[in-house]
This record gives sequence, C-alpha cells and structure tokens, in this order.
Amino acid sequence: MLNYRKDLEKMPSYDGTEKDYRIKVNANESTLNLPPLVEERVINRLSYIAFNRYPNEEYDSLVEQIARNFSVGKNQILLGGGSSEIIEKVFHAFGGEGKKIVYPQPSFSMYKIYAKAADAQAFPFDLDEKFDLDVDAFIKKVREVNADLAVVCNPNNPTGNALTVAQIEEITKNIDCALLLDEAYVEFYGRSAFGLIKNYLNLIVARTFSKAYGMAAARVGYMIAQEEVTRMINKTFMPYHMNVLSLAAADIVYQMRDEFVPRIQMTVAERQRIFEQLKNLREIEVFPSQTNFILIRYEKAAALNEYLESLGIGVRHFSANAPGLKNCLRISMGTRIENDEVFSAIKNFVAGKQ
Ligand SMILES: Cc1ncc(COP(=O)(O)O)c(C=O)c1O
Repeated sequence: MLNYRKDLEKMPSYDGTEKDYRIKVNANESTLNLPPLVEERVINRLSYIAFNRYPNEEYDSLVEQIARNFSVGKNQILLGGGSSEIIEKVFHAFGGEGKKIVYPQPSFSMYKIYAKAADAQAFPFDLDEKFDLDVDAFIKKVREVNADLAVVCNPNNPTGNALTVAQIEEITKNIDCALLLDEAYVEFYGRSAFGLIKNYLNLIVARTFSKAYGMAAARVGYMIAQEEVTRMINKTFMPYHMNVLSLAAADIVYQMRDEFVPRIQMTVAERQRIFEQLKNLREIEVFPSQTNFILIRYEKAAALNEYLESLGIGVRHFSANAPGLKNCLRISMGTRIENDEVFSAIKNFVAGKQ
C-alpha cells in the first residue's frame, strides 16, 4: 500500500508535453537564443566553474547585482528556479490549512495548482468581459474572504493587459495581507511596481529571466520584498536550491542586460504590428497586450489551432473548461518572419482559404 499525501491524486498537473513545432509561439518564450556576445561570455564563464563547491559565491554575486540595480539591500532579494519556484514558495509561506489565497481568473494557470499544493483555500476572482481587473471589487473580495495572500499578475498572462502602478498601489495599501505581484512580463510593459516595496511591507514582486532575457531553460527567477519578508520566505527554500550553471549564466546575462534592449523593443514593435493586423480581421476579437504575446478569441479557435498545427505552427489553445478562455488562442511573438507566417496562416483560415 502506498499512502500518498491526502488529495495528491486529485492534484491537477501542468501539461508540459510539446510537439516539435517549426514555429513555436505557444509558451511566451523568447524566440531567439542568447545574443551571440552574451552566449560567448556565458560559455567562457561556465569553463571555470568550481563544480566541487556549493554555489554560495555565485548566488551572492547575482543577488548583489540585482540589489544594486534596484537600489535595495541584498537581504531584500531571493533567487529561485524560475519565478515558478518563487511563486510556489510564497504560496507555501502564506499557505497551509485554513489559509486563503485570492488570485485573478483568467490568469497564470499555476496559481490554482500552487494554492492546492500549499493546502490553502483558493479564491479565484473573475476578470470582467474585457479581462480588466476591477480594483475596488478585488480589494473587496480580498477583505471579504479575509485572505492571507492576494496575487496579481501584471501584465496578466494570458490576457496581456496591465494595471497601472497607481492601481497596484491602491490594492497594496487597501488590503490587509500580502500581495504577490507577478511581473514575469514587465520588461515588455516597462512599468514595474517594485518602487512601492520601500513603502509597503506586504508587497512581494516576482521576476524572471525566462521571458525578456531568453533564459527559460536555465530556470532563474527572483523576488524583491522588504528584508523582514524575505527572511521569512527564505525559510521555505532548501539550502543550495539553485545550481551553479544557472547562477553563473544568469550572472553574465544580468551584467549584459543592455544587450537585450533591442530585442525587447523588437518584440514590443512586433506585438503592435501584429495586433493592428489581427484587428483588421473582422471575425477575430483581439485583446490589447503589454506583453510578448497576444490573446485572440475566435469562434473556430479549435479548428484554427488544428490548422496551424498542420502547418507546424504551435500556439496556445486553451481547453474548453479554462474559465473565461473559451475559444481563445494565445500567440507569443516570434521573429518578424515567423509572425508574418503565423498571421497569414490565420488570415487564410479565416477567409476559408486553407
Ligand atoms: C505569469 C507567469 N508567471 C510565472 C511564470 C513562470 O515562469 P518561470 O518559472 O520560467 O520564471 C510564467 C511562465 O509562463 C508566467 O506566465
């Protein structure tokens, strides 16, 4: 008899299985690998790693760089295996039996899973029909359920829209619990709320190297909060949970982050260009985005998805039971050539020309 943890069987899993797409625009990754100059320096850095030592120095070095960039203390930063690990640990730190976590819906699908994993009670808060978050109603809900943790994803995945920093502050100061602000896509928006941390003990900002910095494979993320908060969250991490290869690579990438500015700008420009083109297709509803992806709604989304797959194009098709996302497809930005191909495939399908 194998006596697993209660309810483990019922735990939803994230389906990470992937087809070998020719044009892969389904996971909001960077379509480009590291800039050649950065890659060269990363490879060089990896050649003098002390594999026999625990990676204290490498952890500290990256923390120091991030702290310097945000003008905060080193004790205000924690690193994680992607922002996934950060989010999971924050849920863990504020979770447990009887604890309540409020998060928007539709949003990052993992919030529901992390809440369950943390044995906390999940309270999804519905976005309106345009996927906007009603700030006052959200605050009300957090207060009403007497939540222990509230989560906001800004800009939001998969809807692409964003709250202003003033709106984030409004939420932060009017709730009586921690607010985890997931800024996985903030580099494509340009307006982070990290500056509020000095004024609010309850604000925790999670960031990642996976999107704008094209390092999804290395699994590096970080969080910023007041020292008292990071001290507590840190208790939930294993010692040496970050591996030296990822730390050393991220250290170089962070040093050279200016090299990524042109490609972030390119992604933003492409997002605008493709948004305008999609808007011209009458049959498709397209949602404005501040990220590296665009969400569309189309009556024949399932058939369109199949058609795109037949062409070797992978977009994200949401299952029929994903709340609020019926008939929605999410398309990450690729290179200009890739985006053109994806757009003409969509245009042809919609015009019945496939
Ligand atoms: C909103 C959001 N947060 C967090 C993550 C986790 O990313 P990572 O663990 O690669 O940092 C993702 C990944 O898609 C995401 O969309």
